[in-house]
Amino acid sequence: MSAALTDAPAEASRPTPGAPLRLRGLGRSFGEHVVLQGIDLDVAAGELVAILGSSGSGKSTLLRIVGGLDAATSGEVAIDGEPVTGIDPRVAIGFQEPRLLPWRSVADNIALGLPAGLSRPERASRIQELLRLIGLTDFAGHRPRQISGGMAQRTSLARALARRPDVLLLDEPFGALDALTRLRMQDLLLSVLDEAPTTTLLVTHDVDEALQLADRVIVLGPTGDAPGAGIQQLLVVPGDRPRDRGSAELARLRAELLDALGIDRHAH
Ligand SMILES: Nc1ncnc2c1ncn2[C@@H]1O[C@H](COP(=O)(O)OP(=O)(O)OP(=O)(O)O)[C@@H](O)[C@H]1O
Ligand SMILES: [Mg+2]
Repeated sequence: MSAALTDAPAEASRPTPGAPLRLRGLGRSFGEHVVLQGIDLDVAAGELVAILGSSGSGKSTLLRIVGGLDAATSGEVAIDGEPVTGIDPRVAIGFQEPRLLPWRSVADNIALGLPAGLSRPERASRIQELLRLIGLTDFAGHRPRQISGGMAQRTSLARALARRPDVLLLDEPFGALDALTRLRMQDLLLSVLDEAPTTTLLVTHDVDEALQLADRVIVLGPTGDAPGAGIQQLLVVPGDRPRDRGSAELARLRAELLDALGIDRHAH
């Protein structure tokens, strides 16, 4: 470790930038039905990889395996070199619906994500910090039914980040939101990850969302003659975020991804 890092006292209290994630030869079958096969992927600490693929291509299955909620039929997942063998405390998952407890306040819902063993003041300060990060300080005492869908989804994101996971898994986190709220949430996610960098896998149906948020994008789909989906396409998205949605470079990548997804872009 460099002297510059060890000498900086502020570093000690900052969250870790997540840990590297490694998938090797990952496959999942349900009986005869091969869903995923031969998935090799390395995600660097703090990197965001978006996962596209048509419905049923195995995106949620892949995320569940990485989080240890489901077991692969073949291959392995490792975080920081240590295999994932079951539900893993190093991983946090955010879903399409916020899944908040209706009788608990925003702050108390976020608190559900905190790790055990923190002192009372530590808990309070982490919750304050997360509320600030998602812009809901003034809504700490509100119940889920008193806030909008976008606010609920922000609360859910804060709960996922509360234990400072090494790996954050997001399964269509903005899929249920209206178009404008969705764009705002994309900006919010970028600023949150800027302050609290975390290795992230983001499943989305939205090609533009993937291009706006991700360092790299993969498309799950058929590869060769093998049954089941593999990594059909992998591309690097250049440029600092937020990116110019109208740039020629993004237009080229969008066309490539739509082709890989089998969507005729001239039909729209
Ligand atoms: N527990 C299960 N038992 C049997 N088959 C399953 C199970 N879980 C998933 N599958 C099958 O695996 C395939 C992939 O499902 P998955 O939910 O991962 O797709 P997805 O890419 O997330 O789709 P969507 O975009 O619609 O969310 C589907 O054919 C599904 O029926
Ligand atoms: Mg899914």
